[in-house]
Amino acid sequence: MEEKIKEIRAEIEEKIGSFDTSGKLYEFRKKFLDNKEGAISQLMKGMRDVPKEERPQFGKIVNEVKEWATARFDEMEERVKAKELERRNADEAIDVTMPGVVSPEGALHPDTMVINDLIDIFTSMGFEIFEGTEIENDYYNFTALNTPKDHPARDMQDTFYVSDEFLLRTQTSAGQIHVMENKKPPIKIRSPGKVFRPADDATHSPMFTQMEGLVVDKGISVCDLQGMLDTFSARIFGEGVKTRLRPSYFPFTEPSVEVDVSCFACGGKGCKLCKGTGWIEVLGAGIVNRHVLENCGIDPEEYSGFAFGMGVERIAMLKYGINNIKALFESDTRVAEQFKD
Ligand code: PHE
Repeated sequence: MEEKIKEIRAEIEEKIGSFDTSGKLYEFRKKFLDNKEGAISQLMKGMRDVPKEERPQFGKIVNEVKEWATARFDEMEERVKAKELERRNADEAIDVTMPGVVSPEGALHPDTMVINDLIDIFTSMGFEIFEGTEIENDYYNFTALNTPKDHPARDMQDTFYVSDEFLLRTQTSAGQIHVMENKKPPIKIRSPGKVFRPADDATHSPMFTQMEGLVVDKGISVCDLQGMLDTFSARIFGEGVKTRLRPSYFPFTEPSVEVDVSCFACGGKGCKLCKGTGWIEVLGAGIVNRHVLENCGIDPEEYSGFAFGMGVERIAMLKYGINNIKALFESDTRVAEQFKD
C-alpha cells in the first residue's frame, strides 16, 4: 500500500503543474479524488481487506494522502484560474490608442431640410397634411381650379400629358380640390409633393417640389393670409423678415398675389441675392376664387379661404445660396454634405 501511495504522490507531483485550463486540471483531479473511481477513494475501499487492528493506522495514512492531494489540487486550481482570468482580460482588452474606424456619416438633402422645416412650421400652426397623387386628371389639375380647356391661363404651366385625360400634375393645387370635395370647412391643410412642367434652366427643373397650403373657414380674409405668411417667413428665413404682397394672377384665386420677403441676406438694403431691390419673391397665393369653392360644393356666401403654393427648391436655393437647381437633382453627396448642421 505504501508503494501505491508513493506512486500516487509521484504522479500528482509530476503532472499537476502541466495543466493550463481548470477543466483539464479537474479531469486530472478526478483520476485520484473522484468519489467512486478515484485512485485514493479506491484505496479507502481496500480497508475491508485489512485486519481490524490495522484499520485505524490504514485509515490515517489514506486520509493523509487524501488531504494532501485535496490541498494540492485546490491550490493549483486557484493558480490556473488566476492565469485563465489574466488571459481572458488580455484577450478582451481594448486598446484606446488604436485609431478608430470612421464610418461615413450621411447628410440630409437641402430639399429634405426645407420640407422638414415647412412641416414643423405648418404643423405648429395646426395644418393637417394631405398627400395627393403625381398623376392627376385634367379636371383636378385645371378645370376645377377655374382653368377650363382653352383658358389662356393654361399657357402659364406647360404640361406633360400622359393621355387626353391624364397628366403629371403641374401644381399641388390639384390637392385643394380633393380636400374640399371630401371635407367640409373648417379646412386647414398643407400638401407637399412633386410637380412636373417641361421647363429646364438654371432655376427650373422638369420635376420639382411644391408645398401647397389651403385654409377655408368663415370670414377668412387677406389679413389672415398675410399674418400667417409673416409667421412663416420669420421662422424659415429668420427673425425680422417681413412679407409684401404684390398683385398677381392665378385663375383659382381672386385676388391673387405674389409674396415677397424682405431680403434676409442684406436686411432689405439691396444686395446680389435680392438684385438690389431688398425683396425676394418666394411664393404665389390668394383668396380662393368663389368658382373653385362652388366646384367643390362649398357655399362662397358662407365660407371663404386662402391658398398658397411655394417651390421647395426655390426656398432651398435661397436659404443655402445654391445658384443652379441642377445641383439639387444630381445626387452628388457633396452637395448635401456642405449644409450639414
Ligand atoms: N399653383 C400655383 C403655381 O404653381 C401657386 C399657387 C398656389 C398660387 C395656391 C395661389 C394659390 O404657380
